[in-house]
Amino acid sequence: MGCVNQVQILILLSLSSLFFSSSTAQNFKCNTPGKCSALVGYAPHNITSLSDILNLFNIKNLRDVLGANNLPLTTPKNYTVEAKNTIKIPISCRCSNGTGVSDNPPVYTVKKNDTLYLIASEVFSGVVVYKKIVEANKIPNENLIDIGQNLTIPLPCSCDDVDGDKVVHYAHVVQSGSTLKSIAKEFGTDEDTLKKINDIADDSKLFADQPIDVPLKACSSSIKSESLDNGLRVANGTYVFTANNCEKCTCDYASSPTLQCEQTQLKLATCPNPSNIASRIGSRWSFLFISSIHLIPLFLYLFQ
Ligand SMILES: *[C@@H]1O[C@H](CO)[C@@H](O)[C@H](O)[C@H]1NC(C)=O
Ligand SMILES: *[C@@H]1O[C@H](CO)[C@@H](O)[C@H](O)[C@H]1NC(C)=O
Ligand SMILES: *[C@@H]1O[C@H](CO)[C@@H](O)[C@H](O)[C@H]1NC(C)=O
Ligand SMILES: *[C@@H]1O[C@H](CO)[C@@H](O)[C@H](O)[C@H]1NC(C)=O
Ligand SMILES: *[C@@H]1O[C@H](CO)[C@@H](O)[C@H](O)[C@H]1NC(C)=O
Ligand SMILES: *[C@@H]1O[C@H](CO)[C@@H](O)[C@H](O)[C@H]1NC(C)=O
Repeated sequence: MGCVNQVQILILLSLSSLFFSSSTAQNFKCNTPGKCSALVGYAPHNITSLSDILNLFNIKNLRDVLGANNLPLTTPKNYTVEAKNTIKIPISCRCSNGTGVSDNPPVYTVKKNDTLYLIASEVFSGVVVYKKIVEANKIPNENLIDIGQNLTIPLPCSCDDVDGDKVVHYAHVVQSGSTLKSIAKEFGTDEDTLKKINDIADDSKLFADQPIDVPLKACSSSIKSESLDNGLRVANGTYVFTANNCEKCTCDYASSPTLQCEQTQLKLATCPNPSNIASRIGSRWSFLFISSIHLIPLFLYLFQ
């Protein structure tokens, strides 16, 4: 492509400043060192499929999205997602300068007729505000982007505990008409927590179509700090794969805040010693597994 198409972006400046001036939206507070997993809520504008969503958000494994949405593992990639149906997108999060940023953010290639506002509000369904795309990409003139230009899309997130609880932070795009109370109820948290972590005084400061930080109850693995799944947090009602996909860990917060893990048969050859996985349920498999690991050197020795 020799010629550079300049796309003039006619953002209604007065309108956008009205929308965004009063908000520091999307600066989720984040002061915990290291990485963590977080979720963002994506409600596609148009009918789409899981595979398009994986592409859009730069996610490698279908099972990560299936787990985050508690969909059966047999769900195919071409599974249809209806417009406005929210899919939880699992992301890796890192705190930087007091705020959370997605660690491996999606990269979006600008298409004909795109504007930054459209990319933020429609393509990414408001989970990012366009000012954040401007900042992240150091765009000098926000009315001027090029077709084919690649934009990093910074997704909001946090790794902080909330009132001493290990949680999974969820970037929820506020629907018009919802209240702090209704959001708290929907996601199993409370109004005061939402106010505190988002620095929101009351419903009048809740902006539709912008993300708000919602801490989801989460399970973590037990005790052993040297275990492979140490630090793993899984939101209530979701599952993840861990330990080279050898373990499937599920969180059902109502029955236990400890992660429930079981062995999968996905990649047995590279599976770690199960005794290094703290939150396993059942010992039959670990017994078999440990035995076979111990038998291999014995066989090698015998047949030398
Ligand atoms: C998904 O793909 C399978 C076969 O690969 C096909 O049978 C099925 O109809 C497809 N579903 C949709 C919704 O496209
Ligand atoms: C860190 O944040 C402060 C205020 O929030 C800002 O002034 C400063 O430029 C930021 N520093 C970096 C390195 O981003
Ligand atoms: C871009 O906008 C023009 C005029 O508004 C329209 O004719 C064209 O179909 C649009 N192109 C795409 C790719 O949406
Ligand atoms: C949704 O579909 C309409 C009509 O096909 C199209 O013009 C629009 O660009 C699509 N929006 C997104 C975000 O893909
Ligand atoms: C944008 O990213 C795509 C896919 O990674 C790549 O093929 C293309 O060359 C990039 N464009 C620019 C202008 O860097
Ligand atoms: C946990 O998830 C279940 C559904 O999976 C839901 O019924 C329950 O209210 C949730 N609990 C909390 C505290 O979020």
